[in-house]
Amino acid sequence: MDTSVIDSSEKKVMVITGAVMALFIFSILYARGRSNDLPECVPFDKSYLNPKVMQLDAKTFQVYAVAQMWQFQPQEIYIPVGSDVDFFITSKDVVHGFNIYEKNVNLMAVYGNINKSTVHFDKPGIYTITCHEYCGIGHQGMQAKVIVNDPSYK
Ligand code: CUA
Repeated sequence: MDTSVIDSSEKKVMVITGAVMALFIFSILYARGRSNDLPECVPFDKSYLNPKVMQLDAKTFQVYAVAQMWQFQPQEIYIPVGSDVDFFITSKDVVHGFNIYEKNVNLMAVYGNINKSTVHFDKPGIYTITCHEYCGIGHQGMQAKVIVNDPSYK
């Protein structure tokens, strides 16, 4: 019996399998280079084109925050102790979380939508904003800071 002979129908299957595998590998490599190429979608509100902290009076602030893979803007928010802060949060791409553990803030950042939470910061310190909704490979490093300053420390 000659084992080197391959039936023609089996050859056909091998060629088709090879072609499918090649297409599969090509599509993975192609998608890898485009994984961050998501459409951006911010609410129809110019405040979110330039994420920022706005001061209304000595102890009242508004934060227009944007989440995107994998960071928050603004990255650092400086306020004096005793401030009230309105956080308005949205996302440019996928759903992110917006969690300030010490202040019991637990929001979702959702594209095309704005979520709000008001927080009173009565103690100085650094409060970490954490993304607590899995949003991809950079999720675990997605953080920002609220830095509450006590002028008496200077
Ligand atoms: Cu953003 Cu997890």
